[in-house]
Amino acid sequence: MTVVEEVKDRIDIAEVIGQSVQLKKSGKNFTGFCPFHANTRTPAFVVFPDTGTWRCFGACNEGGDVYKYVMKAEGWDFPQALQHLAERAGVELRPRTPAQEAQEEAQKGLRALLESAVTFYRHNLLHSEPVLEYLHDRGFSTETLESFGIGYAMESWDALQTFLLDKGHEREELLEAGLIVERENGGYYDRFRNRIMIPIRDARGHLAGFGARVFNPKDQPKFINSPQTVLFDKGRLLYGLDLARKAIRTEDQAVVVEGYLDVIALHQAGHGNAVSPMGTALTSHQLRTLKRYSRNIVLALDADAAGNQATLRGLNVAREALDRDPDPVFDARGLVRYEGRLNAEIRIVGLPDGKDPDEVVLDDPDAWSDLLQKATPVVEYVMDVLIDSSDLQDAKNKAAIARQVLPLIEDVLDPIERETYRQGLARRLKVDERAMMGWRPEKTVRSGQAAQEVPQVNQAATEGFCLGLLLRDPELTYWIDGQLHALELEGLSDQDFMSTDSQAIFKAVQTSLGQVDEEPTVRWKALLKGTTLDQAVAFASKAEEVDFDRPKVANAISADFLRLRMRRVEGLLEQLSFQQQAVQEVETDAQQIVTLAQQAQNLVTQKRRLDAALAGRK
Ligand code: UTP
Ligand code: MN
Repeated sequence: MTVVEEVKDRIDIAEVIGQSVQLKKSGKNFTGFCPFHANTRTPAFVVFPDTGTWRCFGACNEGGDVYKYVMKAEGWDFPQALQHLAERAGVELRPRTPAQEAQEEAQKGLRALLESAVTFYRHNLLHSEPVLEYLHDRGFSTETLESFGIGYAMESWDALQTFLLDKGHEREELLEAGLIVERENGGYYDRFRNRIMIPIRDARGHLAGFGARVFNPKDQPKFINSPQTVLFDKGRLLYGLDLARKAIRTEDQAVVVEGYLDVIALHQAGHGNAVSPMGTALTSHQLRTLKRYSRNIVLALDADAAGNQATLRGLNVAREALDRDPDPVFDARGLVRYEGRLNAEIRIVGLPDGKDPDEVVLDDPDAWSDLLQKATPVVEYVMDVLIDSSDLQDAKNKAAIARQVLPLIEDVLDPIERETYRQGLARRLKVDERAMMGWRPEKTVRSGQAAQEVPQVNQAATEGFCLGLLLRDPELTYWIDGQLHALELEGLSDQDFMSTDSQAIFKAVQTSLGQVDEEPTVRWKALLKGTTLDQAVAFASKAEEVDFDRPKVANAISADFLRLRMRRVEGLLEQLSFQQQAVQEVETDAQQIVTLAQQAQNLVTQKRRLDAALAGRK
């Protein structure tokens, strides 16, 4: 029996879960309210002691063993869950490999070094009256400065270095931890001088590095962070998460602000669920980390230039960025997409007239809660900003706004939400919703018969080729969607494929993207069965032969997808013309005739765009 099994065997799953969920005995099993989704009506959460598993039959429709439960409940990874449960079960874990041990030792050493630096900086702060005074004037209490470990790096080229070397640390370590910098002509100097030092810890509270703010406002840049080290990974860390974890879980909401000092001020004012990135844009990894603690994420952005402009500029930048970067980019568009994938709810709130969060709470601690109430979904936020800053008397402005917002709406996963946004946009722009239909071919006309009457061998091959690429790299879907959106066409759908098998395979790719528990390439295999699975595997292995470098063969690849779409549009057009004839023969319903004419017009427009795009990509 492996350790993992042994621990599972010895652990009473009902007891573990019973600590956080009120369970009621029901025959052999236990039931309760699922801790992973908000619910108070039906206890849809069941624990099965016989099999050592649990399942939520409600909104989550998810389940697993005791490890999965602990990982989900605590936001831990597997090794953490194993360690915790092993301790609980009194099972000794197998010793780590020598390499692992060496690495852990090295990291421990670096952390200890950083802790010494924290001690040094804190000591300095207590003896630097002007700095203390500045921090107190900004409203930070002694207690707060202590709990966040805030310190001060003196205006000296070697104070820290001397202190740490005297303590017996090696210079190599100091370099590796990013505390000192090597001079070009030899020699070393302290990286942080005359700065307020903010220790940055990972979610478990382990020291990772520092953020350092100027004390003298004339110094540049305003903030310096530790350089990228084995411990300090900017894209993965969230400032304040170690202290915010609990509040995020109990309040079921995480608030992301831009500044370190804002996090500290918010915590001090009783808003313990605030975190901030490391002065960079939010990454998918950071969002995923937050999602472990709560699916409700609020981004509090600077209302002045930074926040709004970044959001809006992002709309245009996103496409280019998507072409290069498989990782979603966190402008408005990336957020909407990722929100769907993560099954998270992301809202944005703009801060009042150029104020930072720390200023908002300094005036009135409750003002923050009131402000958060105003957070709106990303799409609405973008609509608000654009509409508030435009003169809607000008038709050109309306068109420009629609062009920016509609692609964003297309990316919303939920069809009802999508429709609601569309209606909302039409209402706010005071245009007929049908005027915006060009963005979305009518679903009432289905592709199918007409198109299938003209089967073409090379088109079936295109279908398989395209699916193969998507199976090999499901995230390519986003990129193709980006290409289609750039042409003002809707994203890929199963209707772009003709055979039932192909449609099922595409849906599996889509579903695999809509979850984060497994690699999409693993998940689609689990979703398909029998001959459909065989077919998919065959497509995928064929795609392995393609020398596939996304930016390089971009044009060639997207042309194939455009051809698929062309086939669908042509099929729909053909079908529509039958329908138009039929209507004219038997009906006199003018509205119906107009509707069909509009649909046809819309399809013709799509066809023209596809023609033009294909002409440029031969
Ligand atoms: P701010 O300029 O808003 O600073 O930058 P702040 O944290 O609110 O500090 P105060 O209130 O002016 O003292 C917000 C965040 O952007 C990053 C830092 O993470 C900072 O907390 N930043 C800012 C940098 O990384 N480098 C800079 O030069 C400036
Ligand atoms: Mn600030």
